[in-house]
This record gives sequence, C-alpha cells and structure tokens, in this order.
Amino acid sequence: MKGLILSGGKGTRLRPFTYTGAKQLVPLANKPVLFYAIEDLVEAGITTIGIVISPETGEQVKATVGDGALFGAQITYLLQDAPRGIAHGIKIAQDFIGVDPFVLFLGDNFLREGIVPQVKAFHAGAMNAQIILYPMDDPSSMGVAVLDAAGHVTRLVEKPQQFISPYAVIGIYMFDQHVFEAVNSIKPSARGELEITETIQYLIDHGLKVGAQPLTGWWIDTGKTSDILEANRLILDILETKIAGQVTDNSRIEGRVVLEPGALVINSTVRGPAIIGAQTRIENAYVGPYTSIQRDCVIQNCEIEHSVVLENTHIQDVSSRIADSLIGRNVEIGRADGQNKALKIMLGDYSKVGIL
Ligand code: TTP
Repeated sequence: MKGLILSGGKGTRLRPFTYTGAKQLVPLANKPVLFYAIEDLVEAGITTIGIVISPETGEQVKATVGDGALFGAQITYLLQDAPRGIAHGIKIAQDFIGVDPFVLFLGDNFLREGIVPQVKAFHAGAMNAQIILYPMDDPSSMGVAVLDAAGHVTRLVEKPQQFISPYAVIGIYMFDQHVFEAVNSIKPSARGELEITETIQYLIDHGLKVGAQPLTGWWIDTGKTSDILEANRLILDILETKIAGQVTDNSRIEGRVVLEPGALVINSTVRGPAIIGAQTRIENAYVGPYTSIQRDCVIQNCEIEHSVVLENTHIQDVSSRIADSLIGRNVEIGRADGQNKALKIMLGDYSKVGIL
C-alpha cells in the first residue's frame, strides 16, 4: 500500500500564515502538522509516500520534510500546478500510485490515534474505497455520509442544508485503482475544483464497494487558527516532561514541561503543559499552560499563555498578558520608542490583533 499526502491548497482560512508558508508546516507542540501524518502512515506500515505540493510552498515543504529518511520512509514530491481540488491531487498522482491501493491523507488533518485499525479494516473488507466517519450533532459544514443497514456508504453530500446523517467524513481516505476512473471522469465543480465527495459518489454510483470505519480518538482539521490552538492544546495534554535546557535557580517549572536543548529559563515561571524550543530564552516572564514556543525565540518581560509562537520571534516588554494567540516566524513585538502614547504597527494583510 502507498500513501498520498496533500500539502498544497490555497489555505485562505489561515491567512496571513499561508502568504509566507505552508499551513501543513504550522507546528503542534513544536512539530509540523504534516510530520504527524507521515508518522501515522509509517506506523500503519506504509513507507512509500507521495506528497502533493504547490508551486508557492512546495520548496519549503521539501526542505523541511526531506527524502523521508527522518521517518523511515521514501518520499516522492508531486507538483500540483494550481489548487484544482483534492481529487485533482489524486489525478496527478496516478503514475506514482500505479495499481497499488493507497491512503489519501489531507496534510492539515491531525489524528490522535493514527490509522492502523482503519488500514487493517480496509484490507480485511476487500473494499474499493473506505472513508472514516466522525459523528457530529451538526455536520452541516462538512461532507456527510449516509449508510445502509450493512454499513456501506450509499450517498455523500457536501455541506447538506438539512440533517441527513450525523456522519461527517474526515480527511483520510483509502482507495484502490478504481478511483482513477472516477477522477478522470468527473468535471470541476462550481468553485472550479475536482471534488473528493463527487469522486466517492462516482464510485458508489458505479457499483463499487465503499466502506466506512469509525474514527478512534479525536481528529482535528487544522485549517483555522482556533483549530491549531485546540490541536496544540490536545497534544500538550499528552506531553511528558523533558528538561534538556537550562533553568536558573530563581525560576519555577510547574507541571509537564519540555525544554528543548539550549532553551534557557531565567527568573521566570513556566507552567505546563508547555514546550519551549531549542535556543529560546524566557527571561523575567511567565509562560502559562498550553503554550508552544518554537526555537530561537526571546520571551522577555511579558506573560503568555494558550498560544503558539513560531521560530525566531521576539516578544519583549508587553504589559498585558498575551493569550489565545498564534504568532508567526520572525515577528517582533515590543515597546515603541518615543514619547507619544501611540501604537506603532506593521502588519501584513489579513493579520488580526486584539487591543485592550
Ligand atoms: P482544504 O483545507 O480543503 O483547502 P485549502 O488548502 O485550499 O484551504 P482553504 O479552504 O482555507 O482555502 O484542503 C485540504 C488539504 O488538501 C490541505 O492540506 C491542502 C490540500 N489541497 C491540495 O493539496 N490541493 C488542492 O487542490 C486542495 C484544494 C487542497
């Protein structure tokens, strides 16, 4: 079996991050979301993996993930010229997949308990395709599956306006080679994309066996800021303490905290669960629960909690506590010079700042 991870797309919901980087590289507990997908595939015995990348962020994905050696996998990159839909990602992978069955994994989806049982069930059930279902009270913002009495999928509807079933379809799918007939037959939708829902409906309509498996553990689509903070929180909740950095005598480390090598905590309190990246300096500061700070940051004379801070960012001399925030790479937050009580701001398009 092979793996196919989609790591292109537009990422409009995660602007401004997606102007300068791939959303699949946003870290959860200091590890890119995409790494968890690769690890899930490898854990299920799938080591031949294709990653669909975009012209905008593909080089960054390649540089971060490499050839797969880091994960015990062989990774091939497949360039999608434009975000023409999830099913288009399958279409361009036809030569890479050949006649093998494969797992399609959307690169911004995160699963707590991996995909081992679902992969086993797919093999055991001799299915042509298999989806994973997540029951929700209101799945109206998702693709939704209707099942028959035997548990086979009879219909898929994208964002149904009326309640037809509680089963939302998550971003991990399994297919055999019949899926290529579907993606080569369907036409782009009104939004100009080859849709995955239509692809699976095509298989059902042509008498192929589409099975469904329940999700085990929780799942998050990290397409929006609030989802990233939630996924980060859930991962930090299962983090184990590891202090590889340095803590001065007048500092306190409370609860489960990871200090990566070279991290330095001076005259500060870090209350876990929290992770502080390599070479990051926390000085005269408070880092509260559910915070991930990546490498090479400075957090000085300020308080921060329930936030994710990306690499090489400096936050200094901020009098209000920073909370519920996602802060990008190479950001500088500090006091403005001069006498005027004025805020000095340089923010990119689609940035959001809450001011007291
Ligand atoms: P989505 O989150 O559905 O789409 P998007 O990335 O365009 O984001 P937004 O809705 O915020 O504009 O995509 C799911 C995953 O599939 C994500 O990892 C990106 C990837 N993808 C591709 O690789 N190629 C594509 O053509 C599309 C639509 C998505």
